[in-house]
Amino acid sequence: MTSLKEYTEGRTTFLTADVEEHTAEKGQPTTDMPVFYNPRMRINRDLSVLFLGAYMKDHDVKLICEPLAGSGVRSLRYLNEVPGEYDALLCDVNPVAIETATKNIERYGFQDRARVLKGDAKVLLMTESRGKRFDFVDIDPFGSPVPYLNAAIQSLNPKGGLLGLTATDMPALCGVYPKVALRKYGGLSTRAPFVHELAVRLLLGRVYSIAAMNGCSIKPLAVLSTDHYIRAWIHVKTSRTESNAQADSIGTVRLCRSCLHTEISPLRDYKDSVFEHKRENCPADTTYAGPLWTGSFFDLSTLKSAMLFHNEESSAYDKRVPELLELMIEEHGLVMYPYMDIHEVCDAYNMTPPKRSDIMDGLITKGYQAKRTHFRSTAIRTDAPIDAIVSVIRNLTGG
Ligand SMILES: C[S@@+](CC[C@H](N)C(=O)[O-])C[C@H]1O[C@@H](n2cnc3c(N)ncnc32)[C@H](O)[C@@H]1O
Ligand SMILES: [Zn+2]
Repeated sequence: MTSLKEYTEGRTTFLTADVEEHTAEKGQPTTDMPVFYNPRMRINRDLSVLFLGAYMKDHDVKLICEPLAGSGVRSLRYLNEVPGEYDALLCDVNPVAIETATKNIERYGFQDRARVLKGDAKVLLMTESRGKRFDFVDIDPFGSPVPYLNAAIQSLNPKGGLLGLTATDMPALCGVYPKVALRKYGGLSTRAPFVHELAVRLLLGRVYSIAAMNGCSIKPLAVLSTDHYIRAWIHVKTSRTESNAQADSIGTVRLCRSCLHTEISPLRDYKDSVFEHKRENCPADTTYAGPLWTGSFFDLSTLKSAMLFHNEESSAYDKRVPELLELMIEEHGLVMYPYMDIHEVCDAYNMTPPKRSDIMDGLITKGYQAKRTHFRSTAIRTDAPIDAIVSVIRNLTGG
């Protein structure tokens, strides 16, 4: 019998295995704990609660599914913190997880609204959705969500459903293993001063290709990059016409690691353009990422609704949540320009990094747009080319 300990997240109290007994170096819980729970993923769950609440303002949600549920904390938080008349299906392959999730559901008296099933996620997504499709599927695996994507997309309501995806396989997505990214995500990763954005775009590119294969279009509503993972919330619906049109949002990113000039090219209209390096003596070879999603990944009304939902009970959420939402709202209109990490720019050009706000002011004075980004506190989004960013920094540092 596994000994369980009580934890609280948001407005929800639940039981799970004692995390301290199963924590490796750097405070990361080990995957061999009797039932997996990672307190550091709280912000992921906080935002998932808020984005489900925001999504339900405009969409009917009757049935949600978490096929990799662990202790059940995530679904329990949805049921307890997001008001609505919907039911939940929780699955896991681990019998201790099933026992724990069942206990957690019973403690809240949610037996009438929630079922807990033991089995393989892919099988259960396919079989349990045959009678009634899911309006929200939340995939929160160890590593990559890609193995579950086809079943998850096929299990969603064809009129439209919400897909939540977590990916923790950052070495593949962030350019340490570009070929692994190609194998799993259908696109090469590379190291870049906007590497976490490439990670998000590779994941969205894979979601697009699997949705498209099933005759569906996608609309990313929000993405999160923090700690050791990325997360995406995507509206998926059956529409071959929209899916065909979205082929224009698949492209490649080409980067020179010396001058940091970056070009994004749509795959469909690919032209062998001359790559315009921004300083002399750049090496001839450039690096590529993709094919990947080059379209937008924030929906302003979803972000604003999530903020309103948060403000109704702000003390329930991690204190970083309002700032993250604020930054997402700030950067949403400039996501066609990959964020630039100022420290990496300064390293490449041998400059000392000035204050981010001073660089932004300098760019705005020159007529460019400049925003902060939730991806990194040392990065900006701007429509300015790299030579303009460098010139502003040189002016500030007198270099
Ligand atoms: C990262 S944990 C889930 C954590 C949970 N969603 C949360 O927010 O706390 C991944 C879970 O997937 C389960 N799992 C792994 N492979 C599975 C499979 N093929 N089918 C169903 N569950 C699986 C593991 O037992 C583990 O509980
Ligand atoms: Zn160059």
